[in-house]
Amino acid sequence: MTKSVYIKSYGCQMNVYDATRIADVLAPMGYTPAESQDAADMVVLNTCHIREKADDKLYSELGRIRTVQADRAAVGQAAQTIAVAGCVAQAEGDEIMHRAPHVDLVVGPQSYHRLPDLMRAGGRQISTDFPVAEKFAALQGQATSRGASAFLTVQEGCDKFCTFCVVPYTRGAEFSRPATDILAEARRLVATGAREITLLGQNVNAWHGAGADGVTWTLGRLILALAELDGIERLRYMTSHPLEMDDALIMAHRDVPQLMPFLHLPVQSGSDRILALMNRRHRAADYLRVIDKLRAARPDIALSSDFIVGFPGETEADCRATLDLVRATGFAQAFSFKYSARPGTPAADMGDQVAEADKSARLAELQALLMAQQLAFNQASVGRTMTALIERRGKRPGQWLGKSPYMQSVLVDGPDDLMGRTITAVIEHGYQNSLNGRILPAGTDRADILAA
Ligand code: SAH
Ligand code: SF4
Ligand code: F3S
Repeated sequence: MTKSVYIKSYGCQMNVYDATRIADVLAPMGYTPAESQDAADMVVLNTCHIREKADDKLYSELGRIRTVQADRAAVGQAAQTIAVAGCVAQAEGDEIMHRAPHVDLVVGPQSYHRLPDLMRAGGRQISTDFPVAEKFAALQGQATSRGASAFLTVQEGCDKFCTFCVVPYTRGAEFSRPATDILAEARRLVATGAREITLLGQNVNAWHGAGADGVTWTLGRLILALAELDGIERLRYMTSHPLEMDDALIMAHRDVPQLMPFLHLPVQSGSDRILALMNRRHRAADYLRVIDKLRAARPDIALSSDFIVGFPGETEADCRATLDLVRATGFAQAFSFKYSARPGTPAADMGDQVAEADKSARLAELQALLMAQQLAFNQASVGRTMTALIERRGKRPGQWLGKSPYMQSVLVDGPDDLMGRTITAVIEHGYQNSLNGRILPAGTDRADILAA
């Protein structure tokens, strides 16, 4: 009998990848994607624990689900099967089981492949250990692409222990998948429609593994091997740590045309004192040196980053150092957050927590600068010729939205069959969050694009 499942993901791209894998493990049990959450036979909440606000979403969603269950019971409909997955499940699994009796299943990020066994066992079940190698072995050979752009997890977990961050506790120790498994999964993704693959890892550039030649490969070498597969037009990777940007990876940006000239490289702060308190293990100058090397290797590379304001002990001067680093670098895009104290992390117990009002003021100043840089970057794209991989329809009839090499949203008017295709467009307008382009005729030479 077919049943339907609705999977709702919060948080990072890794959770998006996990959501598709959860769909893959449930499919052999007869579960197909549900049209809506409330009509589904099963609901999976794939949660995020990174900041307090992300965490709150689980409990408010569980409250809403309780009313849906009551409405269903009132009209004689069967109760939905409710599963909580992801990083909150890992961190607070027992508490969820206790606080929310209508939750049937709790599975952590490294144990969701066990869902079918847990469901067959019946009753309320929780599984939150870290059998990460077992998970990837169980999932191997199942991945299919859901569109032209696909995620591929190559590395999971984190040994860096930044003092503000829950990820080392929720995802476990660093684990790298073997190169042969990654290449096999990439081939499957391409065979099922992917043209762009984004390699994922909490510390993706810490990936290392035995290569086909018996030598230990690092990420740069893996990217060279992936670029040789037929059908891969674009490669990306995220998220990287500045300490792991080795020369082989930087040279891949010079040597691999499929590797897109865009890099998300979180720095968090521009103050050496705060970077030390965060246990980032590098100084601001080290970050700037990595950026210089990347720009020498690939002059048109565009950068994105993550910032935290209001870390314990942060002063106005520390915050100015962050603004200086932003001015010195020039970002095409960035994410910035107010520090959120997370239970169990060292920074939560540090003295000198910054007042909420100061956090807000610092965030506003940083975001104004980052927004101005993003607008300048988008406006500088006007007149350039770029490729865009079409991901979905735009708001207006006949309009399409694609992603530029630099991850900008490019809006173009075009024929009906553009979904999943790579088009070439000349950029005519640059706005805060998007570009408008005009499609050039097919066959426009790639050399023109690179020269533009
Ligand atoms: N290396 C990771 C980073 C994950 S968290 C990755 O795979 O993406 C993403 C970003 O959230 C971090 O770079 C940091 O800027 C922010 N973040 C993490 N913990 C935080 C906290 N306690 N408060 C505020 N922001 C936080
Ligand atoms: Fe968290 Fe730091 Fe690890 Fe990134 S590198 S996941 S910020 S502990
Ligand atoms: Fe959130 Fe876990 Fe990703 S805490 S950001 S879902 S690794």
